[in-house]
Amino acid sequence: MSNKRRSAGFATRAIHVGQEPDSETGAVAPPIFATSTYVQQEIGEHKGYEYARVSNPTRDRLEKNLAALEGGTAAKVFSSGMAAINAIITTLKAGDHVVCGNNLYGGTPRLFNQVWADFGLEFSYVDTSDARNVERALNQHTRMVFVETPTNPLMVLTDLREVSAICKRRKVDLVVDNTFMSPYFQQPIALGADMVVHSTTKFLNGHSDGLGGVAVCTRPEQAEKLAFLQKAAGAILSPFECWLILRGVKTLAVRMKTHDASGRNVAQFLSGHKKVKKVFYPGLADHPQYELAKQQMTGFGALISFETGSLSNANKMLRKVRVCSLGESLGGVETLISHPATMTHAALGEKGRKAIGITDGLVRISVGIEDVEDILDDLDQALAAI
Ligand SMILES: Cc1ncc(COP(=O)(O)O)c(C=O)c1O
Repeated sequence: MSNKRRSAGFATRAIHVGQEPDSETGAVAPPIFATSTYVQQEIGEHKGYEYARVSNPTRDRLEKNLAALEGGTAAKVFSSGMAAINAIITTLKAGDHVVCGNNLYGGTPRLFNQVWADFGLEFSYVDTSDARNVERALNQHTRMVFVETPTNPLMVLTDLREVSAICKRRKVDLVVDNTFMSPYFQQPIALGADMVVHSTTKFLNGHSDGLGGVAVCTRPEQAEKLAFLQKAAGAILSPFECWLILRGVKTLAVRMKTHDASGRNVAQFLSGHKKVKKVFYPGLADHPQYELAKQQMTGFGALISFETGSLSNANKMLRKVRVCSLGESLGGVETLISHPATMTHAALGEKGRKAIGITDGLVRISVGIEDVEDILDDLDQALAAI
């Protein structure tokens, strides 16, 4: 037997890193430090905490935990996924250029085009499923490549190894929004990313009861800049919401296994259903990037999109769902079903949606962890309305 101790597995890290029992009382669950300030012993002497916008012990625990789950050196949490993305973009300067995937969550290009473009940042949007498009879009001012993989809602993958090799060669940072897969199924830093961002609102918290965002870093100067932005701009995550995520991540591994098993099941069911015209899911053998999905991810996840043929068909079925809840968001224990054209991707406008292939008949489902038979029955009876 080897003497070498293996490092702790994912589920163990999720439950124990940053989740140590309280040193004062032995409480197994981390305390929520609901305080705005900290008493100081004398001028300039304190226990490492001065003011809660700058730091908070519950937040420190969460940041340690999320860095360990993504394999980063540090993590900084923010009041929402958009606040985390905003903080990352704030590290750039006027004149800098960012190459982005052309099918990001709708709120991300809204922030880039309708806020930051006015401050002199430039953004190009390309189909990153072909790494050559990324290379062609780089110029001397490019500082960052920002991708989501798989994309929302069309489930198109970016080859992270290939794109990160280009970024390293051209000295450009690769930032990956890993919200859809969670660190359980995809580890972008191990594949070469310089930074990972999440809407913790989704799988990391997992219970649809709080908003949050995190940026996971690989270099000390990134963490320093983001910590400075927490202090300077103040979009920090409250201690209660930090605690909710600390609680949520303890079950991330078991939740993701069920999300994935049920996701595969629902995708198979939909692809064999006569009312469904097309299914977008990287775990189906007919997905054009099925092989890449198997190499790059350790599961296929819970997100599936499917084509009903028209807005009227989509509406007919969405009015009938009972177990699935019609609403925005994803990644909760409950099955959420949504209509990208009028919800998550409304901000793109008709032309923008058409350009990337989001139709009015497209429906997206985030498969929850209810009994899968109930989800299938519900979809079947709702599709009968078409
Ligand atoms: C992939 C992705 N990134 C970022 C966000 C934004 O996160 P939040 O809603 O927590 O601000 C979302 C929200 O749906 C998302 O789906």
